[in-house]
Amino acid sequence: MRVLGIETSCDDTGIAIYDSKKGLLINEVYNQRNLHNMYGGVVPELASREHMTAMIFLLKKIFKNKSIAECIDIIAYTAGPGLVGSLLVGATFACSLGLSLNKPVLPVHHMEAHLLSPMLNFKSIKFPFIALLVSGKHTQIIGAYKFGKYEILGNCLDDAAGEAFDKTAKLLGLKYPGGAELSKLACNGIEDYCYFPRPMIHHPSLNFSFSGLKTFAAQKINKCNQSIQEKANIARAFENAVIDVLLIKTKKALKKQKWKRLVIAGGVSANHNLREKSKKMVKKYFNGTVFYSSPEFCTDNGAMIAYLGFLRHKEAKKPQLEILVKPKWSINDLFF
Ligand code: KG4
Ligand code: ZN
Repeated sequence: MRVLGIETSCDDTGIAIYDSKKGLLINEVYNQRNLHNMYGGVVPELASREHMTAMIFLLKKIFKNKSIAECIDIIAYTAGPGLVGSLLVGATFACSLGLSLNKPVLPVHHMEAHLLSPMLNFKSIKFPFIALLVSGKHTQIIGAYKFGKYEILGNCLDDAAGEAFDKTAKLLGLKYPGGAELSKLACNGIEDYCYFPRPMIHHPSLNFSFSGLKTFAAQKINKCNQSIQEKANIARAFENAVIDVLLIKTKKALKKQKWKRLVIAGGVSANHNLREKSKKMVKKYFNGTVFYSSPEFCTDNGAMIAYLGFLRHKEAKKPQLEILVKPKWSINDLFF
């Protein structure tokens, strides 16, 4: 069975085909970074318009002269959470393709797709596990009991980890989205040159609050001599603070659930230091294992949607006229 996955939740247009026997066949992502960079962040109206153009471009590139109907069996698309205009473009494409090709269509949850995306690399990940989902819009600690049964144990109260990275990167003069660039800059920073606060680490909940860090970073940047070295020192201190907070809360969650497996997923899970430090923490305190995917599956992509579509294919409905999107869909509440 072959599943076409369509991802348009934010500013990446992703299309992929997952084959139940051969695995991932195609994974194409059109990145809108250049368009949004000039505004310093995603402009929702522009993102949805760009998805329309990118979707046609990618479909033509993937299928060329081939018959789409012969290449795929079902279509899965991101129904939420995400930007409503962007989601509507993907959903409308998916449902229209389903109708015209007479193929079943399946709406799937973007964060569940992130959560399971390391399985594209490691099929053998066993439930239950703790998932740390760290993306541009979400920072969540999830108890993953079994496929389809998840519980949010901790959530972000304001800026998500990726958002904090992006906003601080902007203050440092880096391009949007600045997470990866900030991390590169931090590599040259002097350890312990300055110290950032660790918000909410003593709070009994597993929730996060990162919005104060960008204000703290703004003050540090204003006061520094604006040299690359000082900026790198600030970037390093910022990155250390975010990672410390993420791992302190994740450690509490593993302890609470008495589990040994940790999955980290979402754009920020591409961060090298987060990966290394989480491996050490899980080994040292739990003698456990950390799973994360290769970088192309960390940020938004169609492969994770196609893979989740394959896992859920039995729920796929016949070609449907009803176009469903849920911009604020919670992973606690998976079914429509
Ligand atoms: O999962 P994703 O592609 O989009 C959402 O679903 O939100 O995550 C994008 C986020 C951006 O904030 C980006 O700056 C961040 O992931 N990111 C990183 C790194 N690579 C991407 N943050 C820190 N370090 C990285 N290496
Ligand atoms: Zn995402």
